[in-house]
Amino acid sequence: MIRKARQQDVRFIHGLLSRYGAEGQLLARPLTDIYEFLRDFMIAEDKEGERTGVCALHLVWEDLCEVRSLAVLPERGGEGWGTKLVEACVSDALTLGFNQVFALTYRPGFFSRLGFQEVEKQRLPQKIWADCVKCVKFPDCDEIAMLLEL
Ligand SMILES: CC(C)(COP(=O)(O)OP(=O)(O)OC[C@H]1O[C@@H](n2cnc3c(N)ncnc32)[C@H](O)[C@@H]1OP(=O)(O)O)[C@@H](O)C(=O)NCCC(=O)NCCS
Repeated sequence: MIRKARQQDVRFIHGLLSRYGAEGQLLARPLTDIYEFLRDFMIAEDKEGERTGVCALHLVWEDLCEVRSLAVLPERGGEGWGTKLVEACVSDALTLGFNQVFALTYRPGFFSRLGFQEVEKQRLPQKIWADCVKCVKFPDCDEIAMLLEL
């Protein structure tokens, strides 16, 4: 199942994002960020109650939100958890009245299978000026912008 994250999930989230962050697959997040934005996060959990992955939906601007911090435990990859997490975020976006969801990613194929389409980053100026300018990769970011219009 997919559920909202709780305080008790923060160390799990931090550990998983740090692991993939060290490999350069996504941007790791400091603990302070995870606490501050904990309401953005969703947790995937199997029938035994074991956590398998995490994802966050961040509201950016009028009718624009971002799926970010998507990560599934490597040993649980390919079981559909990543898909379920993104679908839960998209459903959350719709519930909140948002019709455009984007992701910055090195896995464009994964997102295109879910209906996202590649766009120029210039299509997302609010993201660039709010977050990207503070990122260590700016302005040479090689992540691919993928957008889903609902
Ligand atoms: C990207 C990531 C989240 C995908 O998670 P996942 O749980 O493996 O995703 P899914 O299982 O839903 O889909 C993965 C593949 O398995 C296949 N698959 C889906 N359900 C499946 C199932 N039940 N059984 C077997 N294969 C399945 C899908 O076809 C998919 O193939 P594709 O990626 O080539 O399209 C995961 O690999 C990850 O954490 N990567 C490192 C961090 C990262 O890159 N995050 C994204 C940054 S935005």
